[in-house]
Amino acid sequence: MSDLDSLQSQILSDIAAAPDEAALEAVRVSALGKKGAISALLATLGKMSPDERKTQGAAINRAKDAVNEALTARREVLKAAALDARLASETLDVTLPLRDAPAEAGRIHPLSQVWDELTTIFADMGFAVAEGPDIETDDYNFTRLNFPEGHPAREMHDTFFFNPKEDNSRLLLRTHTSPVQVRTMLNQKPPIRVICPGRTYRIDSDATHTPQFHQVEGLVIDKGSHLGHLKWILHEFCKAFFEVDRINMRFRPSFFPFTEPSLEVDIQCRRDKGEIRFGEGEDWLEILGCGMVHPNVLAACDIDPDVYQGFAWGMGIDRIAMLKYGIADLRQLFEGDVRWLNHYGFKPLDIPTLAGGLSS
Ligand code: DAH
Repeated sequence: MSDLDSLQSQILSDIAAAPDEAALEAVRVSALGKKGAISALLATLGKMSPDERKTQGAAINRAKDAVNEALTARREVLKAAALDARLASETLDVTLPLRDAPAEAGRIHPLSQVWDELTTIFADMGFAVAEGPDIETDDYNFTRLNFPEGHPAREMHDTFFFNPKEDNSRLLLRTHTSPVQVRTMLNQKPPIRVICPGRTYRIDSDATHTPQFHQVEGLVIDKGSHLGHLKWILHEFCKAFFEVDRINMRFRPSFFPFTEPSLEVDIQCRRDKGEIRFGEGEDWLEILGCGMVHPNVLAACDIDPDVYQGFAWGMGIDRIAMLKYGIADLRQLFEGDVRWLNHYGFKPLDIPTLAGGLSS
């Protein structure tokens, strides 16, 4: 057997014995790589006589082809064996439940959803969002809103007071979002068009009252603002919010110290087998208080009541959330029960827009 023949048969048996693709690659490099045995033989051709080169060249190239062929065949075998081994070791239980995609996990609380919905609606009408602190002064929560000292309307607010300070003044947890009206008027020149959604507090707890709840205040101050504007805004809001074409509203005379005249607003509805429909029916549900801002309030907030006038309203966010989404007990909104939230909550990426739908 010539040297070339024995080299070839050695390489072929190495190929056949290679246990995996890495070992096979090592055999390939030792035979055909830059410093491989066959490459070394090919490099000797240059020094041969033309006749020798003809016979030796052909023989070496045959050996090279044979090695390449064997490498390809063995690679296929090893690949198939590796795949078989993987398939045998990895198992997939197709009966397992699917895991939620990250964007599907978690739910937006109905209150946050309603908060976003109403902000979207009023933003579309040109309202900015104003904010104020939960801890307020007596002055902003009551006095500048035309609740005189000792007036019984103060007592109706079941206020959480902090301990009196040395000068006898007391801080409190705001009982309504109306003090944000005061802050806005003191900080901003008319025309003013703001809503103030926020947390509010009163000492009260039953199926329809929680010590902490939410309100959204609205305030418009300009030279010619009047009740007609207010009615239109509230009407458009209710249609957009309850996502209906028609809504009937009833404006009843009422009393608030900070508005004159003051009104309460009911919307018409029909309750039927746990369902509620708006714009029809015999029931009237109260949803908000409103009125023309009292001249005393304007004056207390450095706005000239002889030049400017305006209107305001205050609405319970919890209440309209319950009405829209069929939540029976107010306290459920505050319990933090994940099972409840999974049922009543909203998908994180379904952001309410007027164009795309508020709640779909
Ligand atoms: N602040 C009132 C309350 O909590 C609600 C309210 C009524 C706000 C009339 C207003 C308004 O701005 O004009 O009971």
